[in-house]
Amino acid sequence: MKRIFSGVQPTGNLHLGNYLGAIRNWVRLQKDYESIFCVVDMHAITQWQDPAELSKSTREVTAAFIAAGIDPEACVIFHQSAVPGHAQLAWVFNCVARIGWLNRMTQFKEKAGKHKENASVGLFAYPALMAADILLYKGTHVPVGEDQKQHLELTRDIAQKFNNDFGREVFPITEPLILGAATRVMSLRDGSKKMSKSDTSDFSRINLTDDADLIAQKIRKAKTDPEPLPSEVAGLEGRPEAANLVGIFAALSDRTRDDVLTEAGGQPFSTFKQSLTDLAVETLGPMNAEMNRLLANPGEIDAILKRGAERAQAIAGPVLDEVYDTVGFLRV
Ligand code: TYM
Repeated sequence: MKRIFSGVQPTGNLHLGNYLGAIRNWVRLQKDYESIFCVVDMHAITQWQDPAELSKSTREVTAAFIAAGIDPEACVIFHQSAVPGHAQLAWVFNCVARIGWLNRMTQFKEKAGKHKENASVGLFAYPALMAADILLYKGTHVPVGEDQKQHLELTRDIAQKFNNDFGREVFPITEPLILGAATRVMSLRDGSKKMSKSDTSDFSRINLTDDADLIAQKIRKAKTDPEPLPSEVAGLEGRPEAANLVGIFAALSDRTRDDVLTEAGGQPFSTFKQSLTDLAVETLGPMNAEMNRLLANPGEIDAILKRGAERAQAIAGPVLDEVYDTVGFLRV
């Protein structure tokens, strides 16, 4: 059986990187896989979140999933804290994962910054909770952007060690699905930095909530170099900002970068940016409208989350029972 699990943190505005690296791929995959999509609010609090903002953002991310085209009937959409098995399995995995494995996680190093002693224990244990998210449903495939690759390798290591330690094939060895022309969308201000929710400059990213004018302004101001576009991908070498815009264009238009450059090679950035703006507005505009419609009806969003949590719990319950029996926890 093939089952997808993936998640997004409700820590502020979703951006084009989240959409092209993850959510848009989910929309396509939902036809071929049993799919579970989660708003991971427990991951969000590994760094302090304003409580009112966290609740608001949980609804916004849910609305974005649906507005992007995820069918809440066909897929399970829910928020992590509503299914207690995530925390329960994460504890077991904290006892399976080795400190040395977690010490190697580059995202922890980036997020903890210079003073690692001041980071929360939760931030350090973050990847074990992520493994629990996926394996609580025996997820076989996980569609994500490139930045999650290391975490998914750790998920495989945890599954393997658990199975070995207890001599039972309880968990599948999960496959990452890193798909499309924009698996790592970069900042619009600096082609060496990932587009991120936490960047202090709003002009570094295109948010899914930005209107057409703001999208146009941000693309117009995006950093580029003085040369026109090359006509082949090899010509993007050493031009990270150009490579990023071409990657975004290719992903949005569902073409390869080669294809885009065959057509756009030789164009000045002013022309290319105008086409990119049109394309981005065409894609994001209708999503934005649908998100706003949903957010005006929070009751509708909450009902979807509630039903999703019930369906998630129905899958998670028997898996957690199996884990408890395997570990030797009495169920009386
Ligand atoms: P998060 O919330 O940072 O990002 C959500 C998804 O968006 C992708 N992404 C990007 N893709 C391309 N370019 C970018 N600039 C970019 N920025 C973000 C991420 O790769 C991700 O797919 N740890 C996860 C959340 C998580 C999870 C899980 C994912 C928790 N449990 C279980 C999969 C399975 C995270 O922080 O994603």
